[in-house]
Amino acid sequence: MTNKNIEMQDRIIVALDVDNPELAKEMVKRCESGTRYFKVGLQLFMASYFEVVDWILDRGHKVMLDLKFFDIPETVKLAVEQVNNRGVSLATIHGNDAIIKAAMEARGDLQLLAVTVLTSFGEEDLLAMGMTQSVEDLVLFRARRALELGCDGVVSSGLEAERLRKDLGGKLLIVTPGIRPGANVCDGSDDQKRIITAGRAIATGADHVVVGRPITKAAEPLVVIEEMQQDIENSTGT
Ligand code: C5P
Repeated sequence: MTNKNIEMQDRIIVALDVDNPELAKEMVKRCESGTRYFKVGLQLFMASYFEVVDWILDRGHKVMLDLKFFDIPETVKLAVEQVNNRGVSLATIHGNDAIIKAAMEARGDLQLLAVTVLTSFGEEDLLAMGMTQSVEDLVLFRARRALELGCDGVVSSGLEAERLRKDLGGKLLIVTPGIRPGANVCDGSDDQKRIITAGRAIATGADHVVVGRPITKAAEPLVVIEEMQQDIENSTGT
């Protein structure tokens, strides 16, 4: 675990993967007494542009804007300019050198995270693309480059967080999706392939976990948040 003094209420970032702003606001209200960090991704952003983002910020919460920018460098730079200096804490870009450099020029007050390898990707998907590296090696390679280019951190599965932390040190911000309660191995029940529990992710090096369906599809989202926070506490001894 790193020593960045991150409060428990900021550890879990709830992914608001819903198709309209009213549902998103409802979910924020149901979760906000337990967590104050929310992720707006492609689906919700397409449905509401900055309306929900500003609404969440106005309630005093933090926002991770997960649009995973991937385009020619100039276009990425111009897109980052639309997001910077408006209160968003974290934004995501794809981790190739020219894209990262362009995004860094326009970051303003934003912390930028490079996506290393999507957590829905497994070894077989890399092989199908003709890549013979292991997922872990590719994640490490991309994370090291991202850090060298000035990126604040990376999005990576919990399975790689431990090695990233060991090899790249404490400064790197590691944000980990693919969280499933009670699962240390993939049970194959959905599209995430490299999954881990919240407690284990934080204990082995992640700073934040991103959790979508286990919270948003639960009958009692707040109860799931509290159980995950308990798991984090138990796993880290904090
Ligand atoms: O529902 P689930 O917990 O799988 O949601 C994970 C969230 O994290 C989704 O919003 C997904 O877009 C995001 N994410 C991911 N893998 C990455 C980056 C982001 O699953 N590498």
